[in-house]
Amino acid sequence: MTIRDIISEIIIKLEAVGIPSARLDAEVLLAFCLNCDRLEFIKNPDRPLSNAQMAAFQKLLDRRLRFEPVAYITGRKAFWSFTLEVNHDVLIPRPDTEVIVEEALAICRTQAFNQPRILDIGTGSGAIALALAKEIPETQITATDISAAALKLAQKNACALGLENSITFLQSNLFEQVHGEFNMIVSNPPYIGADEYETLAAGVKDYEPREALLSGQTGLEFYEKLIYQAHSHLTENGWLLLEIGAKQGKSVRTIMANAGFYDRIDVRADYAGLSRVIKGRRK
Ligand SMILES: C[S@@+](CC[C@H](N)C(=O)[O-])C[C@H]1O[C@@H](n2cnc3c(N)ncnc32)[C@H](O)[C@@H]1O
Repeated sequence: MTIRDIISEIIIKLEAVGIPSARLDAEVLLAFCLNCDRLEFIKNPDRPLSNAQMAAFQKLLDRRLRFEPVAYITGRKAFWSFTLEVNHDVLIPRPDTEVIVEEALAICRTQAFNQPRILDIGTGSGAIALALAKEIPETQITATDISAAALKLAQKNACALGLENSITFLQSNLFEQVHGEFNMIVSNPPYIGADEYETLAAGVKDYEPREALLSGQTGLEFYEKLIYQAHSHLTENGWLLLEIGAKQGKSVRTIMANAGFYDRIDVRADYAGLSRVIKGRRK
């Protein structure tokens, strides 16, 4: 079979099980299998595949047909300006999470912090911490996670990007092992409530770590803890930035306002116009 035939056939199979990104997934998996660029398919659509290549590709396809995310199958995911290694120990970083990086960078620019100290709580693959370390070379970042396995991968990603000297990795349940004060605390915490968790797509619920997603009954449990505990780790005029779910802007703003420690509270939308990041400055 040629590349053209295979892609057409795979699109039909993926669409039949309800996978909407069928063409993209087929091309990405085939390119990964053949260790080539997707452009290769446009240039050489009539290239045939050997039996061994077909067998290897079939194994990848079977995983995708069971709804395993493409990023776990290929072991990598693009984020910000780099590619991260990912595995089942970490949440796959989402493009929406780049909004919190943009907001953090904007604050660093306007506040003109000298060697800002930044804390990333729940770093997972290291996505946010690594993007900030790359963009602000003089920063000192502490990146925490409750999961030792996640931290191991985040550290590996830092080494692969040559950013290992900018980040200290720390296993900690929220702030338990964290010492000192920071100019900025960022976090994309778990924020899915128990009922919503049950409705998540199979690709998320069956494959991504539950502890990276679930936050109590309402989805707000982590926000309560972070907002109340963060203020004692922020410098005066230090900022707290949290990623939020699209429908959580009002509730999290209320928690932040009621805490009484923060001013200049604001919610920023993502590029789809949905609430995505809340920020507040320590009074
Ligand atoms: C939604 S994921 C975010 C991962 C990464 N920051 C990103 O944006 O892709 C939440 C992360 O918080 C971690 N986490 C869950 N509970 C935690 C806790 N009590 N203390 C610290 N980290 C926690 C999870 O292991 C997971 O890596």
